[in-house]
Amino acid sequence: MNEKKAVGEKAIEYIEDGMVVGLGTGSTVFYTISKLGECVKSGLSIQGVPTSKQTEKLATKVGIPLISLNRVEQIDVAIDGADEVDPDLNLIKGGGGALLREKIIATAAETFIVVADPEKNVEKLGSFPLPVEVLPFGLKMTQKKIQELGLTTQLRQMQGTPFQTDNGHYILDCHFPDRTNLKELERELNLIPGVIENGLFLGTADKYITLDRDNNNSIVIRQRNNG
Ligand code: 5RP
Repeated sequence: MNEKKAVGEKAIEYIEDGMVVGLGTGSTVFYTISKLGECVKSGLSIQGVPTSKQTEKLATKVGIPLISLNRVEQIDVAIDGADEVDPDLNLIKGGGGALLREKIIATAAETFIVVADPEKNVEKLGSFPLPVEVLPFGLKMTQKKIQELGLTTQLRQMQGTPFQTDNGHYILDCHFPDRTNLKELERELNLIPGVIENGLFLGTADKYITLDRDNNNSIVIRQRNNG
């Protein structure tokens, strides 16, 4: 069974004619976008707002009409993958380096749906390194400030040079100590002037589509508990 395909395609059920749809980035949402392309060919009328250049290319290839975020009043539904999902649907995202646009779009969406295979489920966030998008200017100073918060930092590399995001920034992959207060960490990181955004998505996801390993890998849809 292709788990990413199963959960990615399931999200299509939340898309209706006329919607503005936030299109996430990664190998799971690849299946959502591909399937949406098929639906568009069969007559579904939507406009997509991509979270990365990679997604823009894919969406264009499969025939989804795109619109700039600056030209819409709101996003009806955004669908995206995740690197870790905890029981309260808090996430770590940014493994693909698209976290800044992903967070802008997820936050702008009326409903934010996460699609991920059960490998991404964790009791506590933090085994996956937390991506922090930083300005190349003053990198060393920014890195030092992050380390002063108790985090380890590793500059993400690609083919021997620093990985650059679609926005021309760098990514520091960070580990935070056990029992860190994540709400505080999210805020403190973003107070550092050279930090653009971090990959903690706390209280952002509304629905989570995954599979139940204990029940024949059947699809489960979890809803964020607002309380
Ligand atoms: C990209 C992301 C992706 O959603 C995350 O890395 C999951 O990707 P995949 O579906 O390929 O496992 O945050 O920045």
